[in-house]
Amino acid sequence: MTGDVKTILITGATGGIGRAVCRRLAAGGQRLILAARNQERLDALARELANHHPRHIPLAVDMTDESSIARFGGALDAQGIVLDGLVLMPPQAHSTNDALPESAAWRTLFQDCFIGPLELLKTAVARMRPDPEAGRRAKIVIISGISSAQVLGHYATSNVLRCAWVGEAKTLAFALGARGIHVNTLSLGGTLSPWYREGIEKRAAAAGISYEQRLAEETANVPLGKYGEPSEVAVAVEGLLSAFSDHMTGLNIMHDGGFTRSY
Ligand SMILES: NC(=O)c1ccc[n+]([C@@H]2O[C@H](COP(=O)([O-])OP(=O)(O)OC[C@H]3O[C@@H](n4cnc5c(N)ncnc54)[C@H](OP(=O)(O)O)[C@@H]3O)[C@@H](O)[C@H]2O)c1
Repeated sequence: MTGDVKTILITGATGGIGRAVCRRLAAGGQRLILAARNQERLDALARELANHHPRHIPLAVDMTDESSIARFGGALDAQGIVLDGLVLMPPQAHSTNDALPESAAWRTLFQDCFIGPLELLKTAVARMRPDPEAGRRAKIVIISGISSAQVLGHYATSNVLRCAWVGEAKTLAFALGARGIHVNTLSLGGTLSPWYREGIEKRAAAAGISYEQRLAEETANVPLGKYGEPSEVAVAVEGLLSAFSDHMTGLNIMHDGGFTRSY
């Protein structure tokens, strides 16, 4: 990648973390392809970001549905879009302690959280034109969670799905490296998206304590003593899309305040 304006596809663009990433990249002058299912929310985000750059493109896609992804690819082609980067946020599996779900449940989980989003990744890779000899690199950042590196008791199916992504990312790093396409995973610990804050509020109410008390209890075992902010994730994503990662690929980077104890 060079210092020019880049075109970056952001999935989950309208979510708590996606918005923060979009705001940061847009402020840095990048052109964004904004993707999620709800077109109205995408349009509103594109209007908000237009202060920075008028050419952001809001394009709806359902990452779990391959026909929707095929239409999305067609829409990218119709607008002649060549991508310099992809920030992929696969839908998150609900937390569960069920280590042995029924086969049908597993099939749905793998389709929604792995196979569908991987189809979107393939769609993006097919529209990247890196040229490492000319210093033009393409960067893929897969947003994952810390169960990619350790078993979490209350995330039984997520433990499996997150590891599948780490294996896929490492495999893709080898397969695509010579073309100048980098694939890194950013594994998040608790990050204060609106839905995550609501969860803390509910747990605080159930325990009869304040939000601040509950937050302090939950983060007592995090070395940095806090959950992450979406704006902090945005800084890390921006770095991984930049020249900072020009000699880095296949990494699974923990963004967890030091919580993960494995090396
Ligand atoms: N927050 C955390 O603590 C945390 C921790 C670990 C990992 N993560 C990961 O971080 C990413 C973003 O999390 P978040 O907290 O920002 O979540 P969020 O606020 O719930 O946002 C989710 C985003 O994904 C979009 N989306 C959901 N299902 C989709 C689908 N089938 N196809 C296309 N887009 C879809 C949503 O928009 P629509 O509903 O309009 O589609 C929304 O833009 C996720 O990959 C999550 O697994 C978060």
